[in-house]
Amino acid sequence: MESQVEEIKKKLDVVDVIGKYLPLKKRGRHFVACCPFHGEKTPSFTVSPELQIFKCFGCGKAGDIFTFVQEFDHLDFRDALEELAKMAGVTLIKDEHLSEIERHHKRLVDLNYEVAKFYNYILTSHPLGKLALDYILNRGTTLDTIKLFKIGYSPANSTLITSYLLKKNFTVDELIATGTFGHSQYNQRQLYDRFQDRLVFPLCDFRDRVLGFSGRILPTSKNPNLAKYINSPETDLYHKSQMLFGLNLAKESIKKAKSVIVVEGEFDMVSPYQNGVSNIVAIKGTAFTEDQLHLLKRYTDTLILGLDSDFAGNNSARKSIALADSLGFDISVLQLGEKYKDPDEAVRDDPDFFKKQVESVVPVWDFIIASALKTFDPTTIRGKKEILSMVLPFLVKITNSVVQSDYYHKLASEIGSDVDAVISEANKVNRPEASVVTTLHTSSEKINKVEQLEDYLLSLIFSSQKPHLLAPKIVDQIEFTLPRFKNIFTNLSVLTTDFNPKTFADSLSPELSPVFNNLYLAGTYLNLDSHHRLLEIKKTINQLLTISLKQRQVDISSQIARAESARDDTLINQLELEYNSILQQLSSLQSTKT
Ligand code: UTP
Ligand code: MN
Repeated sequence: MESQVEEIKKKLDVVDVIGKYLPLKKRGRHFVACCPFHGEKTPSFTVSPELQIFKCFGCGKAGDIFTFVQEFDHLDFRDALEELAKMAGVTLIKDEHLSEIERHHKRLVDLNYEVAKFYNYILTSHPLGKLALDYILNRGTTLDTIKLFKIGYSPANSTLITSYLLKKNFTVDELIATGTFGHSQYNQRQLYDRFQDRLVFPLCDFRDRVLGFSGRILPTSKNPNLAKYINSPETDLYHKSQMLFGLNLAKESIKKAKSVIVVEGEFDMVSPYQNGVSNIVAIKGTAFTEDQLHLLKRYTDTLILGLDSDFAGNNSARKSIALADSLGFDISVLQLGEKYKDPDEAVRDDPDFFKKQVESVVPVWDFIIASALKTFDPTTIRGKKEILSMVLPFLVKITNSVVQSDYYHKLASEIGSDVDAVISEANKVNRPEASVVTTLHTSSEKINKVEQLEDYLLSLIFSSQKPHLLAPKIVDQIEFTLPRFKNIFTNLSVLTTDFNPKTFADSLSPELSPVFNNLYLAGTYLNLDSHHRLLEIKKTINQLLTISLKQRQVDISSQIARAESARDDTLINQLELEYNSILQQLSSLQSTKT
């Protein structure tokens, strides 16, 4: 395995690989992009072709092509290996390297796939699926769509599928581990299918692997008390909070359209998709999770909410919206008016109207203000209060202050009030935490500050084209206190050959080379010309000297106090001389400050 990893690394270039996922721009000797792992609008994600690594200076994520693919696509190591092996044209020595857990997951994925195939066969080709097929065709879903989404029907009698699966050599334990099957309450030896007599949607991840299912009841169901939809429980494979129904089919369109429409139900996703609106996913409820947002963030920055029209009153939807805003999403709302209950109904009744509405979405904050104005009377005192308490919890969460201020003004004018009064109410909603005064009181704060400065100083040095020529000039001015920095700096100042980052990294001890990689990448991220670099170096050295002199000053003061109580005049004189010299050095540092 080790050698295959190395083989793949040799064949692939970090810039080519990451470039497949993100638009990389050249900056100096590195490439940069907006980080896919956290929300940002200016790029701090840096890729180094020399070191074959990436690092984001915003969120700290860093690593090689394997780490990147794992993180970006949420893959485990084995799956990332498969992806990259494909890219590199390397044939992996099969399954024997899979860990026990990976093998188990793979079995469950295979099992789910068989289940989906079986249900789909029953729905499309078996008399047992006839009623369900009539129902779904009647809803306007075509056979092509049914095939594409692998929609199926689970017959009322569970033994058909369970015996089919057992014949395919899946075990009872595996059947149960998928969450689809359980032991019957009445007969422990019998397995029941939790989706029996339901229309079944396979829930796939973005790579098209079936992780779980959801099942909709049929109108012909004999038991009217059953829930309309049921879903797979949490299993080793299926995690509700990470599921976006339809993403496997929609992801390319989302990239192309540069936006994603987020709807609630399976049919709300399927019907628009069938009608050509294919940049669409369903969250299966009204609130979306952070995991889902991160997943979407890989493909687009623009969210169009096609949710239940009263989601503004929903607490968890409100949290989701604030979260999406803080992740840097631009959020708007798809309005379908009073006439339609959900996107599925709108598309079925009037696809052109639906498409027109997709083209004319409104910013989420406008939508929220408008729905509050519709619900309450802005001319009465009571109505104004209600409107404020509905809208402000959203507005206070807007991360961009300019945008926020605009909406405070808008809200004030809609309710005929003064903007200062609105802002004062907003402050009550969102009491800001007392700001923390940052002074260097404790010794750990001091150490942190020194660490930061030393880190920065080394990054500055490594940002130079010829850091090995710079180091000897600095060596007399400053002593690094943190051992790891000291070690790297010493290695640099004694370098006799030209500096090459890869060779240099290899020459360091294994625990130091990642430290160096960070410093080196941080250096480029600074993006300074040589004049400014020198100024910054000087300034940083001054700051470090100042901190160390001030520390020395404190130490000497207490030594003087001790010498005084011991009445040791010689020592006192000596210490005072030193104290004065420190004062002089400090004042000369002050005067050289730029
Ligand atoms: P709805 O209950 O609003 O669906 O649930 P609907 O539009 O009336 O149903 P259809 O269109 O006639 O089939 C919306 C979505 O919320 C999820 C499902 O994904 C459903 O499609 N849901 C709903 C659940 O997961 N569990 C439930 O119990 C209900
Ligand atoms: Mn519906």
